[in-house]
Amino acid sequence: MDKIRIRGGKALKGIISISGAKNAALPLMAASLLTEGKLTLSNIPYLADVVTMANLMVQHGVTLHMDEKPASHSSNGRTLTLNARNINNFTAPYNLVRTMRASVLVLGPLLARFGQAKVSLPGGCAIGTRPIDLHLKALEQMGALIELSDGYIHAYVKGRLRGAEITFDTVTVTGTENILMAAVLAEGETTLRNAAREPEVSDLAHCLVKMGADIQGIGSDTLVVRGIEQLKGTEHRVIADRIEAGSYAAAAAITGGDIELRGIDVHILGTVAEKFSEAGVDITPTAEGVRVNRRNGLLGVDVMTQPFPGFPTDMQAQMMALMTVAKGASMITETIFENRFMHVPELSRMGARINVHSASAMIRGVKSLTGAEVMATDLRASVSLVIAALAAKNITVINRVYHLDRGYERLEEKLSACGADIERIHA
Ligand code: UD1
Repeated sequence: MDKIRIRGGKALKGIISISGAKNAALPLMAASLLTEGKLTLSNIPYLADVVTMANLMVQHGVTLHMDEKPASHSSNGRTLTLNARNINNFTAPYNLVRTMRASVLVLGPLLARFGQAKVSLPGGCAIGTRPIDLHLKALEQMGALIELSDGYIHAYVKGRLRGAEITFDTVTVTGTENILMAAVLAEGETTLRNAAREPEVSDLAHCLVKMGADIQGIGSDTLVVRGIEQLKGTEHRVIADRIEAGSYAAAAAITGGDIELRGIDVHILGTVAEKFSEAGVDITPTAEGVRVNRRNGLLGVDVMTQPFPGFPTDMQAQMMALMTVAKGASMITETIFENRFMHVPELSRMGARINVHSASAMIRGVKSLTGAEVMATDLRASVSLVIAALAAKNITVINRVYHLDRGYERLEEKLSACGADIERIHA
């Protein structure tokens, strides 16, 4: 297994191009199942999760073409063309769903277009139990018959799904996306209340509208969908990855650097930019993106994760890394997932002072961190260790790099172009 080796202490300076958003690309790829037409997606990040989703599409019968590797540092990503004219397999198997929970996003589209789908239950994951009961309940309200057996969801509907009034008990991102994709081909009107407002949900909705769907309320917590019989192919550019941008912003901030993140709009960073500002880090718009620079020392701030437009849970670990060397104390509360503090013991091994009390972590800033051999069990926890390592004394070796490869495209290349001393050690 590959490792990443970082010698900390270099202030990041330079330009980083932000890739297309993983969490927008995955549902958009699943949306190709809704039409016989060709869906062309540009600005696709080349990530392990995108490859897993591509494999899933292919085994359903989608023909797929990805262009060659774009020039290094290009902000255009790859272009992926998907055609789901000849779907011959309605099963999303355990071996793919197990490696990537977002595979469950095929459920809504397959059921809506073909009246059947068989999808492996995802099971638990490192950050919590993460059930999909709300996806299933909503599909049942739309007339689907759902059975759970042999570890699989078996879903059927005679004819088309029916429009329904759906109120999600909890804000769920992939739940909203799954039901939105089901509703666009359902008979009649569907109203989704307490819908997720994440920019990636809106990106999917905008693409569906280009495919011919009728969706009102995009960007709000109430989506009203008038179902139609058929959608057509289209072309769509994936939005920039706000979590990748936030992660590099944290890396620049912790090293006292000054970088420009290209291809990202400051508005999409929302609460993250506000919290950085409270912590003494300015994120300001430039002609092509945003500039991140630290005013003086870092200050401790309190953060609570919330659905969008609140502070994203996917930035919680990175914010915690930043707070380990801030002046004073900060309290970070995780409200979305029940077990998302796996980075805490690893950051502690690097000298951080953190106490966890149920869903909150109290961080008391230290003068400096020191390098150690560390590992993490999920994507964002892993990147928080990279961030900490960039500011730590001596050398840090991060194991289980495959987590980073799921969500960060060319991480070492992007960071070393800004002066970081970072290298991948191939196993
Ligand atoms: C998505 C993101 C993930 C992010 C998360 C929260 C993708 C591919 N992944 O994950 O990066 O961390 O949103 O912003 O976009 N829940 C239920 N029942 C359900 C569905 C969810 O109880 O049927 C709960 C979950 O356990 C969790 C909360 O709702 O506590 C939010 O989860 P959800 O928004 O569904 O996360 P994902 O869509 O899986």
